[in-house]
Amino acid sequence: MRYKLKEKQIDLTKLPAHIAIIMDGNGRWAQKKGMHRYIGHQEGVVSVRNIVETSGKIGIKYLTLYAFSTENWNRPQDEVNALLMLMVTVIQKESADLMANNVRLLTIGDTERLPESTRAELNDLIKKTSSNTGLTLVLAISYSSRWEITEMAKKIAAKVKEGSLEIADITENTVSGYLSTKNIPDPDLLIRTGGEYRISNFLMWQLSYSELYFTDVYWPEFREENLYDAILDYQKRERRFGKTGEQVKTQL
Ligand code: IPE
Ligand code: IPE
Ligand code: MG
Repeated sequence: MRYKLKEKQIDLTKLPAHIAIIMDGNGRWAQKKGMHRYIGHQEGVVSVRNIVETSGKIGIKYLTLYAFSTENWNRPQDEVNALLMLMVTVIQKESADLMANNVRLLTIGDTERLPESTRAELNDLIKKTSSNTGLTLVLAISYSSRWEITEMAKKIAAKVKEGSLEIADITENTVSGYLSTKNIPDPDLLIRTGGEYRISNFLMWQLSYSELYFTDVYWPEFREENLYDAILDYQKRERRFGKTGEQVKTQL
């Protein structure tokens, strides 16, 4: 009942257009309860479902979820395999719900590293949901910011080398246009669950002016009410983008 009140306090005219989430704490949540880390990942999927549904319902335009980082490939093989299996199950199971909720799915990251069949299923789902007009759900899979920035540098260098781009014409927009988030606005709000205060190689270019929100709540316990808390906190902030508070107020 309590979260219904919070929902009412949220100013729907000042919603963050893009929320990015570092979904952390699955393993610790499970281990604290004496369960295998995998159970934490499974329960984390329930949170994903809940947060996707809530975001769509209140009118968030973009939701980016950090699901698997480049560095996560270095986890014990058992855990990597379990996460990949879970991903496949989720992709197969969520298709109908994504369509029913008008959600468009995109991915960012080096999905070439995924098993061929997983990549094919993901691509099918991306195609199937491509005309949906509600929430755009961006899954960061096998993603890291350093990987993305390195790829951008290679692509821009190739353009310069072939003569189709002048060094003098490279702008911030050029850089943005060669990142995997091209055409996606920068996140307004970054949420990290699980109690750590770090970015862990996530969207380093795109988060330049995002509001940061950290919570100790482990991802498997992060649900609708917690998202409202984060949005309410965001709505109390003044985003100055380098200007003075006075400038920002008079521009409104
Ligand atoms: C986040 O939870 C999920 C992934 C990184 C895949 P973790 O698995 O990192 O859980 P903790 O941080 O070890 O508790
Ligand atoms: C960040 O969590 C990556 C994801 C949530 C997918 P990690 O658990 O991998 O981050 P570190 O290792 O604690 O920085
Ligand atoms: Mg972690």
